[in-house]
Amino acid sequence: MIPMMTFNEEYFDEGLYRVGTRCEKWDACRAEHGENTLPLWVADMDFPSPPAVQEALLRRAAHPTYGYTETAEDDDQALIDFWQRRHGLTVAREDITMMPCVVTGLRLAILALTQPGDGVIIQSPVYGPFRMSVEGTGRKVMDAPLIRREDGRYDMDLDAVERQLQAGAKLMLLCSPHNPVSRVWSREELQALIDLLDRYGVPLASDEIHADFVYAPKAFVPLLALKQENVLSLCAASKTFNLAGLQQASCLCKDAGVRDAFRREMDKAGVRSGNIFALEATRAAYEQGDAWLDGLLRYLDGSRAILAELVRQHLPKAVLTPMEGTYLGWLDLRAYGYTTRELMERTARAGVCFTGGTFFGQETGEGFLRINIGCPRRYLEEGVLRLRVALEKGDED
Ligand SMILES: Cc1ncc(COP(=O)(O)O)c(C=O)c1O
Repeated sequence: MIPMMTFNEEYFDEGLYRVGTRCEKWDACRAEHGENTLPLWVADMDFPSPPAVQEALLRRAAHPTYGYTETAEDDDQALIDFWQRRHGLTVAREDITMMPCVVTGLRLAILALTQPGDGVIIQSPVYGPFRMSVEGTGRKVMDAPLIRREDGRYDMDLDAVERQLQAGAKLMLLCSPHNPVSRVWSREELQALIDLLDRYGVPLASDEIHADFVYAPKAFVPLLALKQENVLSLCAASKTFNLAGLQQASCLCKDAGVRDAFRREMDKAGVRSGNIFALEATRAAYEQGDAWLDGLLRYLDGSRAILAELVRQHLPKAVLTPMEGTYLGWLDLRAYGYTTRELMERTARAGVCFTGGTFFGQETGEGFLRINIGCPRRYLEEGVLRLRVALEKGDED
């Protein structure tokens, strides 16, 4: 039996000690930069996953054999119910294709919907594996960079998208909500993009891994709620419930042609789903994780306001992009006059590690850092203070 727990501020403030658990966020960072380094980089949170997840894993682990495993109806049903409950999207069992992770899905979508050498549209600055997946599959990146407003907010540049469509692009990859600029695309914005792509008959693959991290008054609009043909969406419980180490994600697609093409590529690559523990954890999270997730969202909502205040107080020349979604803040530090590489070196010396802006776009990320607020607030405060030290001019400047 899981004891009744309250997922309040104290619970998330406590966090948990992750050092020495083969944790990429903490252990890899400390191995590289020293053991007092505070990691505010990779999109992974320093909170325990919902108690129901741990209980499901312990229960399954207690049965002492771990052979080939198949997905069952309740795995699909848990996902279907979660998306209906939280996002109002109706998904059928046949729409779901499970796979190990969302980046696998990006690659499979590219392989399924384009030919070698074809152009694929991305909107930088965007999560680095978008570009890497296009290049890694022998396709051509066609960037339609987001437009940056003076207050740090970003918008889609549909003229730039159209120019790439006219130049022959064959697919677009959308990040929704967007990492790293934390935009939650509105129904109108998504509809305008869909209408444009429709005019050219170009398919859209939407990475919706951050769908659950949206702050009121914004609301997440699933791509499949607006369009069913020639589109697919990629989702996972991994970001939402901190299960990324278990490797489980899904492709949702209502277009039989697109879905078959995606599954054919999956077969060709020998990609399967069915990690025994991932299925248990994902089902438990989807079925029993709502109270935990609601508590987490309240906590992160508070943390994004705290981050904005910390930046205002300690980094007067920085511009923090307004955070509509995700737990990732996008910090423009160009006024301090350092390249991203210099920022990374200086922050490492000051004992804090962020994700460098150029991971998201060589030009559009230069002079930026991404900060992960999925941690107890004391880390956030300490991280910003260390960043302030990193930005101070020293004798060596
Ligand atoms: C937009 C986006 N897509 C995909 C991923 C990675 O997902 P996965 O581990 O399932 O490949 C991340 C992780 O940060 C992400 O931010």
